Amino acid sequence: MSKQPLLTEYNLNGLKLPNRVVMAPMTRSRADNPENAPREDFEAEYYALRASAGLIITEGSPISDDAIGYVNVPGIYKPAQIEGWKKVTKKVHDKDGRIFIQLWHVGRMSHPDFHNGEKPLAPSAINPNAQSYTPQGFKDTVTPKEMTIADIKKTIEDFKNGAKNAMEAGFDGIEIHSSNGYLLHQFFNGTSNTRTDEYGGTIENRAKILFEVIVAIKEVMPEQQIGLRLNPSLDGPFGITMDEETIPTFDYIVNKLNDYDLAYVHLSEPFTDVSDNKFAVSEIAKHYRPLYKGTLMINSNFDQEKGNKVIEEGNADLVAYGKPYISNPDLVERFEKEIALTDWDEDTFYVPGKEGYLDYPVKARD
Ligand SMILES: Cc1cc2nc3c(=O)[nH]c(=O)nc-3n(C[C@H](O)[C@H](O)[C@H](O)COP(=O)(O)O)c2cc1C
Repeated sequence: MSKQPLLTEYNLNGLKLPNRVVMAPMTRSRADNPENAPREDFEAEYYALRASAGLIITEGSPISDDAIGYVNVPGIYKPAQIEGWKKVTKKVHDKDGRIFIQLWHVGRMSHPDFHNGEKPLAPSAINPNAQSYTPQGFKDTVTPKEMTIADIKKTIEDFKNGAKNAMEAGFDGIEIHSSNGYLLHQFFNGTSNTRTDEYGGTIENRAKILFEVIVAIKEVMPEQQIGLRLNPSLDGPFGITMDEETIPTFDYIVNKLNDYDLAYVHLSEPFTDVSDNKFAVSEIAKHYRPLYKGTLMINSNFDQEKGNKVIEEGNADLVAYGKPYISNPDLVERFEKEIALTDWDEDTFYVPGKEGYLDYPVKARD
């Protein structure tokens, strides 16, 4: 029997992956310590258990105090956090794994409780009418503060600093979180960005900050180790509403990314049914594969069969698995040995403690 496409090697711009099964970035909110630093017996243990993945992408990691919108998430801007992440990368590398960190700024998907009562930052003062997971539980979002040019420049600097810290912490690369309705995605969409300056108005202007972030990060690490994530047909969740310019904006972005020699572009298939949405593209990998010349990673709702198929058909190079990786640390070995997957428990996605975090069974590893 020929090898499953998911289990074949892949050269990620110089980094050799033993397979094409990627662990998708997932917030797990276990950093419930004063510095929000990763720990040896929590995050390091959790990621090391998943080291057989072709590539691990960590949970979103805030790049500054301004960037936070969820409680107990491990950041990448304080010395204690860098020290904590060093434990994670060491443990994963000791198990022959590879790991990128996702650099995160939530923008308006936050709450004044995280900012000493100040409003969260966003491209425009438009409330996403969503919820933020604060220390006191879920709270309604507020109308954010429109970022000044100085705020934008500082944020770009924070992304760059996050990347520099990531290199110091021993990561193999970084993923820019420009997806799922967070800050950079808020700049892309006309319903969240009504600016009239150089960061709004036209498609080029709305995409500008992303390219400035890439250029800034390239100053501190090779572009071959930079990936980024996009969710073009997101409509509804995380306060994002599509309009007629949404897909043309993502087409422009993906096309322009060909000018760089990045590690990968990570795309999500629609999170909701968009078949009746005239602005949406319902098959993201198929739509973007011809547009992007580099490595394309695809995600959302893939199982083993669909993952093998999308690679076989040539519509993606790598497949990122989210929820299946929460409950199956040995996902690669389960695919190899065709062993049934363990179900995940949503109640323990974001709660403190080891339950639902470190106690899922490892069944298929010798
Ligand atoms: C518990 C949980 C936390 C998540 N946190 C993040 C995150 O920090 N960054 C991100 O880009 N996506 C995040 N996601 C989205 C996942 O990366 C993925 O896109 C989504 O789960 C769909 O893939 P799946 O069907 O394989 O689970 C999260 C998803 C879950 C279930």
